[in-house]
Amino acid sequence: MFSHLPTPTLDPILSLSVAYRNDPRPNKVDLGIGVYKNSAGETPVMKAILQAQDIVVETQKTKSYVGLAGCEEFNQSMVNLLLDGTSAMGRVAAIQTPGASGALRMLGDLMKVAQPNTTVWISNPSYVNHRPVMEAAGLKVKHYSYFSPETKQVDTARMLEELAQAGPDDVVLLHGCCHNPTGADIDFAAWQAITELAQKNGFTPFVDIAYQGFGDGLEEDAKGLRHMADNVEEMLITTSCSKNFGLYRERTGAAIVVGKSAGDVNNAKGKLLTLARATYTMPPDHGAALVKTILQNQDLTTVWKQELSEMQQRLLNLRQTLCNELRNSHNTSQFDFIESHKGMFTVLGFTQDQMLQLREEYGIYGVGDGRINIAGLTEKDIPYVAEAIVKVS
Ligand code: LMR
Repeated sequence: MFSHLPTPTLDPILSLSVAYRNDPRPNKVDLGIGVYKNSAGETPVMKAILQAQDIVVETQKTKSYVGLAGCEEFNQSMVNLLLDGTSAMGRVAAIQTPGASGALRMLGDLMKVAQPNTTVWISNPSYVNHRPVMEAAGLKVKHYSYFSPETKQVDTARMLEELAQAGPDDVVLLHGCCHNPTGADIDFAAWQAITELAQKNGFTPFVDIAYQGFGDGLEEDAKGLRHMADNVEEMLITTSCSKNFGLYRERTGAAIVVGKSAGDVNNAKGKLLTLARATYTMPPDHGAALVKTILQNQDLTTVWKQELSEMQQRLLNLRQTLCNELRNSHNTSQFDFIESHKGMFTVLGFTQDQMLQLREEYGIYGVGDGRINIAGLTEKDIPYVAEAIVKVS
């Protein structure tokens, strides 16, 4: 049964963590997987999560099953966080999923059932797991132009020109904020323009928002998504609590469907539940129980928002400090674009070989596509990393 299987290819992000761990060099720097680190290089459990854990331990009386959709109060909290104040609130349904990748797969499976001929358009480049998950669901995938290697910003005109070709059988996958891997986000005018194209040409927007709060703040990061939800009849959304609640290993996310009516989304949710039953039955509870506990408690919500905002500020500072170091100690403004990028990631514009050189000669681990995780930097690493970037460039 197994002998004809080819040697497996390694996941371009997850395999880096293993290689980093096995690297004996003391000055190694992990800028691979998207995990936030504080200035001590640690990823501590967030304060609000620690408090919520105490509450859950004290109040949870059973470990019996929750239900196919997971925790419904969690689902509602996720919908509120993303869509509050929009007209979509009365025509939306959500299920809890094992992380956002689980949500992507559930919505991929739903599209395959609801509209089997769907082509999913993903940005070039996009999150490394978008194509594999959509293809695993049996969907066709194509790229739309997104990032300009020259300006290191979004090539909005070209993107819109290509998206104008998308029609009713197409689904356009957008990053809600903090584009992965580039760090270059579309502006609000582009959100408006894509919304108009969706209305005019009939494609369905699909927003993957895994970093809400890491860009310009919780509300601001949802602005484009909210505008879209207010103005289109149907829309798909995936979200994650891995980053903004620091719940990476708990696999806590949600798949959200906005439809023409409450009846439509109720049917879509029913289908999602059957698909979940045939895949993993129901999601793990712990992470969602913690998030629900925080978002239903005003004091805990304040503690969480404060810490998230500190993390966001720290990311901005790290970007600035790195650019200052490159400008002041190496006399180069070549990397000034790093300051304009949003969230955890930035694409340096390096080739696979240059990324390999960073890793082999300097022990600096970034993804092969040129992505580095700014949130993996510590202040003390910056001079070393800046020097390596200049030497490799
Ligand atoms: C990343 O892009 O580094 C993270 O989202 C981790 C993952 O699941 O790939």
